[in-house]
Amino acid sequence: MKREGWDFADTLRYLAEKAGVQLTPRTAESSADESRKEALQQVLEEAVQFFRRQMLESDEGRQALDYLHQRGLSDETIKIWGLGYAPSSWNALGSALQRKGYNQGLLESAGLITLREDGTSYDRFRQRLMFPIRDTYGKMAGFGGRILFSEDKNEAKYVNSPRTELFDKGRLLYGLDMARREIRKSEQAVIVEGYMDVIGLHQAGFHNAISPMGTALTEDQFTLLKKFSRNIILALDPDAAGKQATLRGLETARQTLDQEAELRFDAHGLLHVEARLRADIRVTTLPEGKDPDEIVLSDPQAWAQIVAKAKPVVVHVMETLAASRDLEDAKVKREIAAQVLPLIEDVPDPIEREAYREQLARLLRVDVRALLAAAPQKRQPRRSRGVQQQTTSSPEVSPIADSALRNRLLEKEALQALLRDPESLYRLNRSLGLLGLEPFSEADFIQSDFRQGFKLVRASLEQDLMSPKEYLEENLPEGLEEKDEPPTMSKILPPSEEKHLTEQVRTVLRIRRNVVQDRIQEIQFLQSEVEEKAYSEEEAQILLLELLNQRRILDLALQSPLAGGTSLSYKPSRGT
Ligand code: UTP
Ligand code: MN
Repeated sequence: MKREGWDFADTLRYLAEKAGVQLTPRTAESSADESRKEALQQVLEEAVQFFRRQMLESDEGRQALDYLHQRGLSDETIKIWGLGYAPSSWNALGSALQRKGYNQGLLESAGLITLREDGTSYDRFRQRLMFPIRDTYGKMAGFGGRILFSEDKNEAKYVNSPRTELFDKGRLLYGLDMARREIRKSEQAVIVEGYMDVIGLHQAGFHNAISPMGTALTEDQFTLLKKFSRNIILALDPDAAGKQATLRGLETARQTLDQEAELRFDAHGLLHVEARLRADIRVTTLPEGKDPDEIVLSDPQAWAQIVAKAKPVVVHVMETLAASRDLEDAKVKREIAAQVLPLIEDVPDPIEREAYREQLARLLRVDVRALLAAAPQKRQPRRSRGVQQQTTSSPEVSPIADSALRNRLLEKEALQALLRDPESLYRLNRSLGLLGLEPFSEADFIQSDFRQGFKLVRASLEQDLMSPKEYLEENLPEGLEEKDEPPTMSKILPPSEEKHLTEQVRTVLRIRRNVVQDRIQEIQFLQSEVEEKAYSEEEAQILLLELLNQRRILDLALQSPLAGGTSLSYKPSRGT
């Protein structure tokens, strides 16, 4: 769009044609759906206005306003967040909106009233402080209502909208419409527990705070957030933090009341989403007995420090488990190691894994080798232990971990060919150029040790103190030498240079094709699994078309004689 100055539709048509994909126009059904949603949103906006007037104009409403002032919220804040008051009457809202011409059916579908068998109805929210809940783009979705003056101890503290066409707790994040710009800008989202926390933090200038609504975080919510930043910080109260560390799940007591929570996250679950969404999830623990809104009201700097103290999930778990335990006790050491090591095995990146093991060894003051001996022998097939899903089952394999494994062998092959014959990089890149493709580069390597090796190969070609081979022999770190490789045919009988070259080209093409293929699957997976998708329909279509096009180019290249194929019709194309 940017380069050609086209609009979205033009770009889509152009890419679709290139990739040979048929576009389907919008259906009448989908636009009927749209206008129904708009009607529901409109009636909810009316309700926001109604509750606000009640708060400003009625006696009981003004008590609610006093309460908000007492909790430190300014009139400006109260207005921005659209806070209001639902009066104690059984039908004040319902009859006011019906007088305005909204029918009962619509009010019910919006979750504002409940129908009785005799055809009458009553308001869902009564005598409550009202928090409008909006979707990512600020469209009304539902309400949360906090109890204020009730004597009845059995009443729930918060009543939320029921599940409606617009309101699905697990697929919304409170405050995201207000926070999304700052989340993108600060490259960080901070997740807190309650409505008041979000509002208090925003008022104090921390505009990247959001909240799930009383449920544990769902994967859908992570997916939603990821559009704005992959760096996510969970601010947990000490109780929740402890539960999470002991792998008992991030549930809080009220969730057992919550029938709708579909997914639960414990540390394993968090690592799983972290890997799958390529996110960076960190945890920080709040001081005992203080909610973020209170903390920030008395000292904004204290909040900044709490956020700065966030630790990666694995580190958080080890430190929480070790806190107040006797680390001189061998049995305690073993117990903690047994809990943390399987978690470390869940981390897909080998370097990160290594670092955590060292950190654990330091914490427990044991030798890393002893720890490794205690580590699980083999990595189990990745099962999502932490994520229990009650309704549909989802694929459990992390596409990222898989692609790393699959490409590891190919990367090794490509690197070893270059280590044997550094100068072959020139010929390889010439072939890639003839195919219309980018030169082979360190960006093609997922494995960081191999990437290092590749940089050395390039350095060996860029220096002129000695021959590239000698340079490599002097500078190569141990792991990368191929001493203990069994001799292969190609080493005993060096193949002709030409054959060697086509093999190298093939390997690079396969590496790239795997990466593209994994991206395609990842996007299709993310789009199919959840309703509130990582990308909008349109973004996903653009991305997919681009990737399909790249894959097609690589497939054609694989068929060309330069890659050992037999196709004579290959015409290099610059792709895009
Ligand atoms: P809290 O009980 O911690 O309340 O619930 P709070 O947000 O700190 O409220 P204040 O500070 O006492 O006024 C945290 C969040 O859990 C959800 C709400 O989203 C709430 O903000 N929740 C809690 C419910 O949905 N239902 C409940 O019954 C309780
Ligand atoms: Mn609170």
